[in-house]
Amino acid sequence: MTQPLDTLGRPVRDLRISVTDRCNFRCTYCMPKEIFGPEYRFLSRDEKLTYEEITRVAGLFAERGVTKLRLTGGEPLLRREIEKLIAMLAGVGGIDDLTLTTNASLLARKAETLKEAGLMRVTVSLDALDDPTFMAMNDVDYPVETVLEGIKVASDAGLGPIKINAVVQRGVNEHAVVDLARYFRGTGHIVRFIEYMDVGTTNGWRLDDVVPALEMIEAVNQEFPLEPLQPNYVGEVAKRYRYKDGGGEIGVIASVTQPFCGDCTRVRLSPDGSIFTCLFSGSGTDLKEPIREGASDMEIGEIIDRVWAKRADRYSEIRSSQTVSIGQRVEMSYIGG
Ligand code: GTP
Ligand code: 5AD
Ligand code: SF4
Ligand code: SF4
Repeated sequence: MTQPLDTLGRPVRDLRISVTDRCNFRCTYCMPKEIFGPEYRFLSRDEKLTYEEITRVAGLFAERGVTKLRLTGGEPLLRREIEKLIAMLAGVGGIDDLTLTTNASLLARKAETLKEAGLMRVTVSLDALDDPTFMAMNDVDYPVETVLEGIKVASDAGLGPIKINAVVQRGVNEHAVVDLARYFRGTGHIVRFIEYMDVGTTNGWRLDDVVPALEMIEAVNQEFPLEPLQPNYVGEVAKRYRYKDGGGEIGVIASVTQPFCGDCTRVRLSPDGSIFTCLFSGSGTDLKEPIREGASDMEIGEIIDRVWAKRADRYSEIRSSQTVSIGQRVEMSYIGG
């Protein structure tokens, strides 16, 4: 099958599958409690794609050039028997990277079975190393220790080296940058500092809240001298650096100050079966209805091809040339980052 290119000549390589819009954390920048409270209506079971449906969509994308699958949420480990989905996805032809992004609250309990099911590695979100900061950010008083335990168990289970994602916000957890760098130096795990983004519409994002990646790198460099590294692959989101003394590597994800839309080969599947061609899209294209009405692989494939052929997204590049951000957008907890 020929591999489709979008209007900017970009192929599709990386499918990010959000398996649930629920999470047991309420990170203030992602699921603020005022909005995601007891009244919030999450997707019902019937509204979510089944594992068979997800695997079918993944297979259609693999035929079109996708080689990397990442499960996200919300919190993907909250979805029942997620190991079953992983085993099914591990059987999709052409996939050479099968991974998952988690808050690690259930990781210590599940790492072993995830690995057995065929998961290759995990990425863990962790925004600070001290409880006061981390608890204020996750807003459910979740302790750092359990996340660190999850990382350890996952590493012992063979899911490492693990990437640790930290979203950095001005005045909230800037100090965590050097803390995290120091803690994970020499462990083989890779911390990546993420510029706080204006995803969704509920987090009240302001440009002033962003700590530029260069500033974060400079803070680490002051204490532990760094040098830049080449990307692992075209379109890698993180910019890589290594410690000059051999202590390992770190990364920064500078989607606000140095956008990387030009190489963006990512597509996202929402828990209820829509495909989104950009993290900042206002709406997606529904595949669930055609799937449930009995459309053939060829018919679903045609929808996918049509969407990709029309794709012109480069939101982060456009945002950085404007001062205000725009209109309706999907929430991070729904589309998975
Ligand atoms: P590796 O393959 O392990 O390097 O991971 P990845 O590049 O898939 O990165 P990951 O899923 O850990 O993404 C890290 C963070 O980068 C996400 O949670 C987002 O915050 C941000 N990010 C990822 N993809 C995009 C994207 O397409 N656009 C923007 N603006 N941000 C993104
Ligand atoms: N800006 C940057 N990263 C974010 N994440 C969630 N919301 C934001 C935001 N507004 C990150 C999470 C997790 C990944 C899925 O996305 O911390 O690591
Ligand atoms: Fe949950 Fe991750 Fe969002 Fe935090 S950032 S609320 S852990 S989905
Ligand atoms: Fe890709 Fe959209 Fe992110 Fe740009 S803003 S890198 S097009 S997902």
